[in-house]
Order: sequence, then C-alpha cells, then structure tokens
Amino acid sequence: MLKLAAILMGLPAALALSSTCCQALQDAGLAHVLYPNSTEYSSRTESYWSVSARLSPYCIVQPTCTSEVVKVVNTLVKDESCSSTKFAVRSGGHTVWPGSNNIDDGLTVDLGLMKDVTLDTKASVASISPGARWMNVYGTLEPHGWTVPGGRAGSVGVAGFLTGGGNSFYTARKGFACDNVKNFEVVTASGDVVNANADENPDLWQALKGGSAANFGIVTRFDMFAFQTGNLWGGTATYNKSETAAQIAAYVKWTDNINNYRDGSSIIFWSYLPAMSDIVILGAYEDTEGNEAPAGFDDFMAIPRISDTLRIASHKELTDELEQANGYRDIWFTMTIANNAEIFAKIVELHEAFVNEWKTLTSDNDFITQCMFQSIPTVFSVHSVERGGNVMGLDSEDRNAIMVLLDIAVKTAEEEAIARPLLRSYGEQMEAFAVSKDGLVSWKFLNYADSYQDPLASYGSANVEKIRAAAKKFDPEGVFQTKAPGGFKISKV
Ligand SMILES: Cc1cc2nc3c(=O)[nH]c(=O)nc-3n(C[C@H](O)[C@H](O)[C@H](O)COP(=O)(O)OP(=O)(O)OC[C@H]3O[C@@H](n4cnc5c(N)ncnc54)[C@H](O)[C@@H]3O)c2cc1C
Ligand SMILES: *[C@@H]1O[C@H](CO)[C@@H](O)[C@H](O)[C@H]1NC(C)=O
Ligand SMILES: *[C@@H]1O[C@H](CO)[C@@H](O)[C@H](O)[C@H]1NC(C)=O
Repeated sequence: MLKLAAILMGLPAALALSSTCCQALQDAGLAHVLYPNSTEYSSRTESYWSVSARLSPYCIVQPTCTSEVVKVVNTLVKDESCSSTKFAVRSGGHTVWPGSNNIDDGLTVDLGLMKDVTLDTKASVASISPGARWMNVYGTLEPHGWTVPGGRAGSVGVAGFLTGGGNSFYTARKGFACDNVKNFEVVTASGDVVNANADENPDLWQALKGGSAANFGIVTRFDMFAFQTGNLWGGTATYNKSETAAQIAAYVKWTDNINNYRDGSSIIFWSYLPAMSDIVILGAYEDTEGNEAPAGFDDFMAIPRISDTLRIASHKELTDELEQANGYRDIWFTMTIANNAEIFAKIVELHEAFVNEWKTLTSDNDFITQCMFQSIPTVFSVHSVERGGNVMGLDSEDRNAIMVLLDIAVKTAEEEAIARPLLRSYGEQMEAFAVSKDGLVSWKFLNYADSYQDPLASYGSANVEKIRAAAKKFDPEGVFQTKAPGGFKISKV
C-alpha cells in the first residue's frame, strides 16, 4: 500500500518509506528525530571528524537511554513502515571512511546523547555510555584520581574504539583497551537487553573485543576496569626528517625492549605539515607512571630535536594535545610489519615518494599526511589472554611487530577520489616490500583500516568462526549484517 502510494505521488519509493519510518520512530515516542531541515541535524553531521563520513540520512534518531534504544530497534526491525529501510549506527563518528557510521539511503541511529560516565570506586569499575568521548571519560574520572585505558586523542568515540580493540598508552601494562572491558550491555536485534562478561554470554564478550560492535547489536554500556593514577610524563617532540635513520634505529630497539619497560608508550610518525611545507618527524612519548624521561627513552632523547612539549601532565591533558585537525577528507591505510629496520626505512622512503607525487597532482598546499608507527610486541597479547581473551588473533603472532597507519587528509571530494587509489597503491608497495623480506604480519588493526581492507579476516580462521558464531547466535536473522550495512561485517569475510 505504502509503496503504491509513493509511486502514485511520484516520490521515489525508498525515500517515502524511509520518511514514514522516521515518522514511526516519532510515533513510538522518540523525541529526538532530526530532519535535514533542522540545525541539530546539521550540527550532528558536522560533528563527524572526517568530512568523508558526513552523509545525508533521511533522519537521525537520538535515543537517550537503553530503553529508548530498545524502542528504536523494535521499530526498525518490526514496524512495517521500516521494512525496507536501512540504518547506520554511530557513536563518536570517528571512523574516517564513508558508510561505516552513517548512511545516505536510510536513517542513522546516533548515540551522541548517551554519554554518562560513572565511577564505582569500591568495585573499581567505570560505566561508560557509548556516545561518550574519551575526554568526557578522563574528565570525569581524573578529579577522583582514576582513569581507564582509552583513546589517545580526546575527541575519539568510546564504542567504535573499544569494539575495534583500542590501542592506548597502557597496552604494554594492561593489554588492549577492549581487554579492560568487564561487561558490555547490548541491545540485540530482537530488542532484548543482554550483558556480556566472563560469566554471562562469554562468547559475545570475547567477540565484542575486536570483532566490531557493528556485527552483534547496539552496545549501550561499557563497564571498564578502572584504576588509580597520578600524573603521567609525556608530550611530543619534533625532529628534522634528516634524523630518519636515528629514529628508526631507536624505534626498533624500543619495540624489542617493551617487555622490560612496560610503563612506556611511544608513537613515531613522519608527517607532511602545510605549516612547514615539508615532512617532519614527530614522536609522542609517555611514561604512565609519571617518571620523567626514564632510561627506556634514552635513544630518543639523544636525537637532536627542533622542539618538544615533554612535561608532567594528566592523562586527559596528554590526550588533548594529541587531538588532530578535523574538517578534512581523511583516507587511511593500515598494515603490520615485523620489527625490522630495513622494511621500516623502505616505508618511510615510500611515504616521502607519495608526498612528492601528491604535490605534482594538486596545487592545493593544504593537505596533511602521516606515516605512523606503533609497536605491537608480543607482550600485548599476553595481557589479552590473561584478561579473558579477545578475537584479534595477535596471540598467534610470535614476533614483535609494528603497525603502520598511512594516511592523507585532503580538502575536496575530487582530491579524495584521486588520493584514495594512490594511497592504496603506495600501501600495497609497502606490503610487497615487507613480503619480499619475509616481514609482513597478516594482522590488520580494524580501527585504522579502510573499507576495502579486511581486518576481521586477518584475525585468523578460528577467530572468524567465533565472531560468526556469536553474530548468528545473537542476531539469527542477520539484521545487523544486511539491514545495517555499515562497518566491517563478518558476513562479508
Ligand atoms: C583523531 C583520531 C585519533 C584516534 N586515536 C586512536 C587511538 O589512539 N587508538 C585506537 O585504537 N584508535 C584510534 N582511532 C581510531 C578509532 O578508534 C576509530 O575511528 C573508532 O571507530 C572510533 O570510535 P567511534 O565511537 O567514534 O566510532 P564510530 O565511527 O561512531 O563507529 C565505528 C563502527 O562501530 C559501529 N558502532 C558505533 N557505535 C556502536 C554501538 N554503540 N553499537 C554497535 N555498533 C556501533 C558503527 O556502526 C561503525 O561501524 C583514532 C581516530 C581518530 C580520528
Ligand atoms: C522538517 O521536516 C519534517 C519532515 O519532513 C517536517 O515534519 C517538519 O515539519 C519540518 N520542519 C520545519 C521547521 O520545516
Ligand atoms: C631540516 O634541516 C635542513 C638541513 O639542515 C634544513 O634546510 C631544513 O630547513 C630543516 N627543516 C626543518 C623543518 O627544520
């Protein structure tokens, strides 16, 4: 009937049906249904970090609590006027590529109004709603002297970060951020509210640790193990790119030493910055116990630097500092290599070649690149296993590794269309070189992967089967595989 009415009225059927689905959400009692003609809709759209992800859903629905998420899911799944409407789920909205956390021909469930953070000091548990950003989390816990392992840029969202693994300053001490989730509260496709922890639904608990929430339901609360902390030491140091060889040597040594020095964190990246009109090297260093430049950092400290912000500061202050410019179209590519200086150097060289080629293709100096290196030593997954295990499969890697994030931020859609395949081709050259030196690690970090990469498959077949089984058990009709097409889907592996 509705379809016929839409055709008679000369409207595209999908549009008319989606609009009636938005109306059905309002009729179900949901107060926050935003249409494109409202300023709230515009400001929610602009709050996506990457311009590439700012799509145009028919409406955005913002539930305010778990029972409203149940209403949203029940309406989307069971209401006839939503039968052909697709939807996306969004928390922080930091995934950079289009179609993960937003949708053009459907509606977006935006958890941005659910951002409570509470601390139970007796239980040492912080309960965090999915729409919180890490700066809200640290900002709430820190005045009481507590924290949790989380994002290293304060604006990053909690839900995508945690269900994609989450690399934090604390990984060498506590495993990935997801390994510190005691319990997930999830609204399943059938509208049930389930808890997933070591005792209750442990299969779902494990699958949510790295398997991406996009496969199982809508996560409405994360209960994380919290701990007491004082200030940290850290900040960033900037170096001339002529220090490349010294930095690579220092980082390779650092990566092999993490097992002996677990309080430290170090990220090194080569970055083209428009303000410098050149590539510089940046190091982001942290000691999570607040020790100033301890011996583990000696090799980095010995390299002459242009400037630094190293100091004693709180977890939140250090993540405020690592915030990155938004308002660009961001394209990312990730890969993982063995801890090998020759492969590392080749990647740095190819990044510079990429920057030089990009300069010949654009007259716009306003672009940023990063070629970022982060240690993934075997001690990380030792902690993961101790804490109940995740599905990322790093425990089967017996070499200390380094993950690479290669990215470019550009201003226009035309530039994005050229930059994406170009970045990919440089990434694939890097992978081919690593393969030729027997140093490509198959694991890919989901939180850094572009849409055409396949991080879930890189977890290994046993983990893929665990994710598949949990998705099937908690969403037997496959609602989150087909009706919510965004994100990395286990059905596509
Ligand atoms: C500036 C910046 C800094 C970063 N720093 C780090 C870092 O230090 N460490 C790290 O590991 N990663 C980092 N990342 C990557 C980041 O972890 C991912 O982009 C992550 O997805 C962000 O989480 P989000 O809540 O914003 O996700 P969104 O983009 O909102 O969602 C990601 C995916 O999860 C789904 N989803 C979101 N919320 C829910 C939910 N509640 N229930 C079910 N499905 C849901 C979405 O549909 C989507 O498929 C960074 C990213 C940026 C842009
Ligand atoms: C905005 O659009 C919705 C849906 O089409 C409509 O119901 C509402 O009246 C419009 N509001 C304004 C202020 O135009
Ligand atoms: C790096 O060093 C070179 C050679 O000394 C110099 O020309 C260049 O300006 C330096 N770059 C920065 C960003 O300081």
